[in-house]
Amino acid sequence: MVNPAGYDHLQRQLIPGYGSLARLGVALLAVSPLAEAPGAEVLVAGCGTGAELQEAVAQRPDWRLTAIDPSEAMLDEARSRLEGAGASIHWRQSTAEALADDPGCQGRFAGALSVLVLQSLPDDGSKLGFLTALARSLQPGGQLVLVDLMQPSLPSLQEQLTAAWLAFQRASGLQASDADLAPFTHGLHPVGLARLTSLVNAAGFGDPARIFQALGYEGFLLQRRG
Ligand SMILES: C[S@@+](CC[C@H](N)C(=O)[O-])C[C@H]1O[C@@H](n2cnc3c(N)ncnc32)[C@H](O)[C@@H]1O
Repeated sequence: MVNPAGYDHLQRQLIPGYGSLARLGVALLAVSPLAEAPGAEVLVAGCGTGAELQEAVAQRPDWRLTAIDPSEAMLDEARSRLEGAGASIHWRQSTAEALADDPGCQGRFAGALSVLVLQSLPDDGSKLGFLTALARSLQPGGQLVLVDLMQPSLPSLQEQLTAAWLAFQRASGLQASDADLAPFTHGLHPVGLARLTSLVNAAGFGDPARIFQALGYEGFLLQRRG
């Protein structure tokens, strides 16, 4: 279980490019075919402490946002972060899978963001269930920005990449204990690009287009098939 207190600071020290991820994701979605429309409905699935929401409100104050997360503690933290931002945010304590079972949410959203969520779901049907739910929640042609830890494309470089990642953390001043870091670094289930492609295709999306990469963290733009 991730502790929301100090979450953002830790993420910035741990994840190369974390500070740019939300900004880039929102910027891409803001000019996507459906979500560029004024007042578009946009879903933030697994909003955590609200990094993507804060960026969405700054760049597109006209968007009507739905923020979901199954963790009450995370939602509370995001709510207090966004308090007073004057944003139109519908908060809901829910998984993406439960949201998509609500007939009122099926095919509803012009765009969606999901940052660092899929990586924590095992590839035993859970990843497919999550991605299928996101596709069902989007309008046909709606786009999803998906950011996750991925398996390296060149396994022979794994050792070097891991050493570089640890060096990045040290240089960023990370001093957290192993216990503090465990929720961020353990119990993750990254997949490679081929597997991600087959999962998103099965879920109802076209092929993933890579829009970001920093070490193992990769961002993709996906479009729900019409
Ligand atoms: C590592 S945090 C990322 C939070 C935020 N997106 C960010 O980048 O800072 C992952 C979040 O996904 C949420 N989550 C886990 N399973 C989920 C699901 N099935 N649907 C929606 N959110 C989920 C967790 O509660 C957690 O808040």
